[in-house]
Amino acid sequence: MKTAKIRNIGVVGAGNMGHQIALLAALSGFKTTCTDISEEALKKAESFADKYLPERVAKGKLTQEAAEQARRNISFTSSLEEAVKDADFVIEAATEKLDLKRKIFASLDKLAPPHAILATNSSFIVSSMVANATARPAKICNMHFFNPALVMRLVEVVKGPHTAPETADVTVELCKAMGKLPVLLKKEIYGFLVNRVLMALTNEALYLLDQGIADAEEIDLAITNALGHPMGPFRLMDLTGVDLTYHICMERYRETGNPADKPSPTVVEMYARGEWGQKKGKGFYQYQK
Ligand code: 3HC
Repeated sequence: MKTAKIRNIGVVGAGNMGHQIALLAALSGFKTTCTDISEEALKKAESFADKYLPERVAKGKLTQEAAEQARRNISFTSSLEEAVKDADFVIEAATEKLDLKRKIFASLDKLAPPHAILATNSSFIVSSMVANATARPAKICNMHFFNPALVMRLVEVVKGPHTAPETADVTVELCKAMGKLPVLLKKEIYGFLVNRVLMALTNEALYLLDQGIADAEEIDLAITNALGHPMGPFRLMDLTGVDLTYHICMERYRETGNPADKPSPTVVEMYARGEWGQKKGKGFYQYQK
């Protein structure tokens, strides 16, 4: 299948990443259907689109016509079948739980057309962990966007041993068609490129916080001003979700059994208290709902 043949895109998951990936696909001219089991998440994703598009027009970043076309291109449904039955390409952006992702991929394999490529936006999980839940491993790969997906240019495309070269090529081309800058990883590695580096930084920042060396604001201030990062690790965790950090560390710990992979005490406490960052109004910082 050639990228030019892609007309319909299904996005599974309307959360932090899914709602923006879906809107990006719609803005890039693809008929996009976004699905989630949570009606609330779907409503939020739809309201986001209804607010974001006119705001872009008002800012002079988008024509009225392009905004209207994007709005026509995107639809929302709680039916997985409805979302992917005509899809040429599916992007899974569900919660970072391997069991859940394997179930989703097994269903996608039955519900999506046989020619469809099924990509996972997982932050860490390599696609070979889900490919064998399907009968089309050659059409499975990682397509990893960064938060906020409408803004961040980079997308990591990761080719697994099961991934056909054509699948990786089409995915790279699709990234370009969405205005993104793809990097192709030739081999699978847990966490890919960016999150391996980011996690090393974040773990060290959490260690310094847990040791009482400095508080979150001071560490963020140091990193932004010394290294020129647009956000420090704590503000960034609030953006990407403290729950995501928790799930990533727990998944890794379950896999390796290495206590060093467990989430830091601060992350465990914040996860339990529901202080998951921007989306909850409180994380390392306070936010207006
Ligand atoms: N959604 C959509 N657009 C957003 C946005 C959001 N949540 N936040 C900001 N924007 C847009 C604004 O509309 C604006 O667009 P414009 O310039 O075209 O008008 C542009 O981004 C800049 O926004 P602001 O001027 O309000 O704010 P900043 O200049 O501070 O930029 C930021 C905000 C883009 C989020 C910037 O702080 C940044 O780049 N932060 C780092 C983000 C990052 O590192 N992301 C990667 C996280 S790791 C990850 O995602 C991996 C995953 O696996 C967890």
